[in-house]
Amino acid sequence: MPQPRILITSALPYINGVKHLGNLAGSMLPADIYARFQRARGAEVLCLCATDEHGTPAELAAAAAGQDVRTYCDEQHTIQREIGERFGLSWDWFGRSSSDQNRRLTQHFAAVLEDRGLVEERTDRMVYSVTDARFLPDRYVEGRCPICGYDRARGDQCDNCGSLLDPVDLLEPYSTISGSRDIEVRDTRHLYLLQTRMQDRIRAWVDQRSDWQPLARSIALKHLDEGLIDRGITRDLSWGVPVCRDGAPRPGFESKVFYVWFDAPVEYIACAAEWAEGRREGQGAWRRWWRLDEGAEDVRYVQFMGKDNVAFHSVSFPVTLLGSEEPWKTVDVLKAFNWLNWYGGKFSTSQQRGVFMDAALELLPADYWRWYLSANAPEGSDSAFTWEHFQSVVNKDLADVFGNFVNRILKFAETRFEGVVPEGGQPGEREHRLYADIGAGLAELAAQMETMELRKSAQALRALWVLGNEYLTEAAPWTAIKTDRERAAVVVRTGLGLVALFAAVSQPFIPFTAAVVAEAVGEASPAPWPDAHGEAALRLLPPGRPVRAPAVLFRKIDDAQVAEWTARFGGPEA
Ligand code: 2FM
Ligand code: ZN
Repeated sequence: MPQPRILITSALPYINGVKHLGNLAGSMLPADIYARFQRARGAEVLCLCATDEHGTPAELAAAAAGQDVRTYCDEQHTIQREIGERFGLSWDWFGRSSSDQNRRLTQHFAAVLEDRGLVEERTDRMVYSVTDARFLPDRYVEGRCPICGYDRARGDQCDNCGSLLDPVDLLEPYSTISGSRDIEVRDTRHLYLLQTRMQDRIRAWVDQRSDWQPLARSIALKHLDEGLIDRGITRDLSWGVPVCRDGAPRPGFESKVFYVWFDAPVEYIACAAEWAEGRREGQGAWRRWWRLDEGAEDVRYVQFMGKDNVAFHSVSFPVTLLGSEEPWKTVDVLKAFNWLNWYGGKFSTSQQRGVFMDAALELLPADYWRWYLSANAPEGSDSAFTWEHFQSVVNKDLADVFGNFVNRILKFAETRFEGVVPEGGQPGEREHRLYADIGAGLAELAAQMETMELRKSAQALRALWVLGNEYLTEAAPWTAIKTDRERAAVVVRTGLGLVALFAAVSQPFIPFTAAVVAEAVGEASPAPWPDAHGEAALRLLPPGRPVRAPAVLFRKIDDAQVAEWTARFGGPEA
């Protein structure tokens, strides 16, 4: 069978600072877990992510940091990449939407879409600040929300009621640059993507995506049912992809750039081109992932994102790709997540509410977070982070179940079998029952992983760990050894085989610990995903191989830590 090829992208994090755990849980972490699973199964995987560097979020954050926007983006990109790597996010490439590749591709798409009659220039009425002598797109203007009356609604969205807004609808608007209320509405020219013309085409395309999960599908259909609208794809900003065609600025658009949501998804393609740059296969290597006429017909493309991003990925980006009439790969499975909340409320970057990725790693190693966030992924509904819940999940699953199993069997092998895999004895009835249970558990785990059911996958993995503990408790090698050393040898050999198996199948979730555990039983790295069942899946380690108990894998979180972290980061009242 040819090796499956899987393209995986997660929503591109904005450049404006280190991301919080909600961002990690709803896109980057699940993408990584799926990528690791598929690699372990032998698939050829291209897992991509990048910083989303344009638009008002970048400009405002740079201004707040007192830096020019390019320097700010350079620094923040490195910071985000390093933190991602410390979390074990195993991207094949972590790119930048400000790359040359993205500039060229974004300009290319705008040009072909215009040639196909899907982009046109229109005169728009936009908010203009006389004091700042400039137009104020999106977040450069705030005012009272026309829907709910909240007095600090942003030009593009009201944070209070969630409504998407047009800056000209704000009441009592003011400039977020100067605070000036000397605001006018003036005419200006902008490019529009004529999504209305693609309504039927996009609906037919969504209808064919039978693998999409209900959350993504229902959001896409809601937008289609409401009717697509034509979308402005340029903005009066200086930082972004310039509005050029064939290398020349478009007359009248010299001080404008493409809208961040037009160029950001194009970076999924450009990111592959960045990855291919300088590769042995040649810099065109990305095309076999993205061009249907150059091999991408065989690719399965999976996207991970929070629910707020679904409309852009299920409608706007497909309009770009399909509207071009060029043979681009489009998404096969769109996996969307609800919100991970911080107690009852929201994580918030602007208000710095919640735990951010850098702070999390100061408290505990990545695997504690990776496990908690995947076992409690906001899949069917929103889920809530609380310190107490985090403590209970870590202590039970990681310390009591997984850590305890590995520790018990390895300590026993060290003290009673000189730290080597023992030989002798034959598997008995209890082992055969274990093989059957493990085989069924592995099948369940693989099925849940394949369909990206993260919570159910974590449950299935935990169930395997539980089988290991039950086996040890029942087979009780510490009792057997008193009368029947051969029987104890069988149990220890079986238990050590389980340790190696658990390293292999836990690796997508807790890769750092899995590597330590594999090493403890003499494996250079976690083994490939087992595709056999029963006894064959439980590959027994060669007798005589040295093993040793690792240092404590997971320390329990105590109440004093919970109290300290609640005081530091805020708890229910936050
Ligand atoms: O919502 C966000 O965080 C955006 N930066 C996601 C962009 S995804 C993609 F299209 F680039
Ligand atoms: Zn509102």
